Amino acid sequence: MSPDVELTESAAEADGPAGEGDVGTDGDSDLTEIETVALGRIATATSLSELEDAERDALGKRSRFSARYQQLGRMDPSERRDAGRRLHYVRARIEAAVSDKRAALTAVAQAERLAADRMDLTEVLPGVLAGHLHLVTQVREELEDVFVGMGYEIAEGPEVETDWYNFQALNIPLDHPARSSVDTFFVDAGEPETVLLRTHTSPVQIHLLERGRLPIYAVAPGRVYRRDTPDATHLPVFHQIEGLVVDHNVTFGDLAGTIDTFVQAIFGADVRTRLRPGYFPFTEPSAEFEISCTICAGAGCRTCAQTGWIELGGCGMVNPAVFEATGVDAEEWTGFAFGFGIDRLAIMRHGIADLRSFIENDVRFLLQF
Ligand code: PHE
Repeated sequence: MSPDVELTESAAEADGPAGEGDVGTDGDSDLTEIETVALGRIATATSLSELEDAERDALGKRSRFSARYQQLGRMDPSERRDAGRRLHYVRARIEAAVSDKRAALTAVAQAERLAADRMDLTEVLPGVLAGHLHLVTQVREELEDVFVGMGYEIAEGPEVETDWYNFQALNIPLDHPARSSVDTFFVDAGEPETVLLRTHTSPVQIHLLERGRLPIYAVAPGRVYRRDTPDATHLPVFHQIEGLVVDHNVTFGDLAGTIDTFVQAIFGADVRTRLRPGYFPFTEPSAEFEISCTICAGAGCRTCAQTGWIELGGCGMVNPAVFEATGVDAEEWTGFAFGFGIDRLAIMRHGIADLRSFIENDVRFLLQF
């Protein structure tokens, strides 16, 4: 369709309702005024209700237009035809204007409603920050997984112990010098200085042995307490994991191989272990176990004090005195035990400078793990 034809058609449309002919108001000034007033009010209506008022005033029962319409019946038939045409023309013009305006106002109202109800589905909200397990808990669970994979059970013991479980049954008598190496938190219960926060996880060995279900392959992770002032390498509350194996013909070689196996599972196959003579009342012989320095890989650095080795924990063969205290036949059963700090292991594996970072609850630190 050419633009010319289109132009012609819309011009014809604007001219008035089709089929009416261009009668106009034909000099009828009263009718012209009715039309002008009505079209003016329609054009300036700002709401659908204003538009309805304008339409009712223009064409309704009590309008001047309606009065004019009623007069038609009393007219001479010769005049009536033209007068009727003029009225019809004006009503069609007003109705067309009302309908255009109604469409326009409806569109505006709809646009306003859409704008008010707008919901931006693409908006990105910060959301709720999901937390995760503390690094110490992650490492503890990892250790548990490694030992479960080696056939161990996970054991648990109380954090509040009696002197018997924490010391005496572990071959640390009341006057033993090993007691002074751990400043203890005593609990105000029972006889003075008989109930305490456990200073290590070794009392779980006693609970396991007392249970009497042999053989034993168990690890017991948990919280321990010592009266230490917090510094880069000490916390008064920290975590250990205890290992206890009791079976027939268990050897020191089994102990060394077990330590080697779990250290490599945690630190990787390049890390080596070694045992150095040590002393613990509840193991005999005893050893300190060390791993090759994770920072310098054994070459010597500040972290390992140039030795290439870092001490991880203590271990040894279960002292027959411990079997005796718990009613296990030391002639039949042999075993080994080991224990080390989970927090220390975590700082070594992740190169964390200060143990206190674990308890400061600084999200910038915690989020890194
Ligand atoms: N309980 C000892 C400590 O806290 C570690 C250890 C456990 C040593 C088991 C030997 C055997 O230092």
